[in-house]
Amino acid sequence: MIYELKLLPEAKRLDSNASSASQAPGDFSLTYSPAKSRANVLSDSFGRIHKYLRISLVEHCNLRCSYCMPEGGLDWTPAEELLTDDEIIRLARLFVGQGVTKIRLTGGEPLLRPGIEKIVKKLASLPGLKTLAITTNGLLLKRKLPKLQAAGLNLINLSLDTLHPDRFKAITRRDGLGIVLEAIDMMLESGYDPVKINCVVMRGMNEDELVDFVGLIRERSIEVRFIEFMPFDDNRWSGGKLVPYQEMLRIIRQVYPLEALTCSPGSTAKLYRVPGFRGRVGFITSMTEDFCEGCDRLRITADGNLKVCLFGRAEVSLQHAMRNGASDQELLELISTAVGGKHARHAGMHAIAASRNRPMITIGG
Ligand code: 5AD
Ligand code: SF4
Repeated sequence: MIYELKLLPEAKRLDSNASSASQAPGDFSLTYSPAKSRANVLSDSFGRIHKYLRISLVEHCNLRCSYCMPEGGLDWTPAEELLTDDEIIRLARLFVGQGVTKIRLTGGEPLLRPGIEKIVKKLASLPGLKTLAITTNGLLLKRKLPKLQAAGLNLINLSLDTLHPDRFKAITRRDGLGIVLEAIDMMLESGYDPVKINCVVMRGMNEDELVDFVGLIRERSIEVRFIEFMPFDDNRWSGGKLVPYQEMLRIIRQVYPLEALTCSPGSTAKLYRVPGFRGRVGFITSMTEDFCEGCDRLRITADGNLKVCLFGRAEVSLQHAMRNGASDQELLELISTAVGGKHARHAGMHAIAASRNRPMITIGG
């Protein structure tokens, strides 16, 4: 049976050399490097071993963040074309069997997935999985947290870009800051340690709040992670709106002395502490200092495509394969081919901005 490589429109399949350096715009090939010549199914031709899988549970969201969703809205994939619970568990089991130790559930907003508690429970029981995480906007967390925690969810990243109610509304096109702040307290009270907060920093929008966000970590076990604004389809990215990591450091250091911490290999965040403060500060510098070299992530979209790079367009439909009766072995071969074709690094922010990709909301961060 042949399972096609599903590429987005206009994409070309090139048989370029797998060891070619970066993912150039227009080069969306999945080049095959037989797993035999690599350590295993989840290691690529650059020796990177992928232990972290992000699974998107839904495409839609109860917020409308401008940097994530195109302003004109999106045509959502019909529900029957999204992965079923059983398909998610089957894929997760396969990946964990190959060495994945961390799974993060993403979206859209993953808490909108009906029956998420059951999915969490089944995933948490996979032998070999050490961390089961979620990235959420927090709006539904208050209601869902106790069951999710009991089911085995052990790490939460919460998206929050402003501490001002009016700005929250401007960024997300919805109300809700109060609910999200309550969710943070509830997570801390429930023992999540640290609670991670993802803050996308955009010039003219919230760079004047960096210092206020750092203030949150004074007495609380919070890791505030400042994320450089990244270009995705129709999200009105421009180089001018990006606040580079070094500039963020300068702004914060005018008020707080930041001390660098040693980071674990493969970590996306550059971590700092403020002497005397309980929490930590992190910077996700995907644009100005990429961390592709240590990348250990793979993504499965809600419609069942394996995406080996956040900024690459190459996708392979695992759902299509499963629905055509693929055996586990055949799925593993497909996965191995895709991972073997992963490029060394992304092509740089301007090339990414000029090329087509999915909007972030349909990738899952
Ligand atoms: N740039 C940087 N981060 C983004 N996210 C979504 N869109 C972007 C973007 N354009 C992040 C948000 C959220 C997660 C789902 O993805 O911080 O936490
Ligand atoms: Fe929803 Fe998160 Fe995207 Fe905002 S960034 S629209 S909360 S998925």
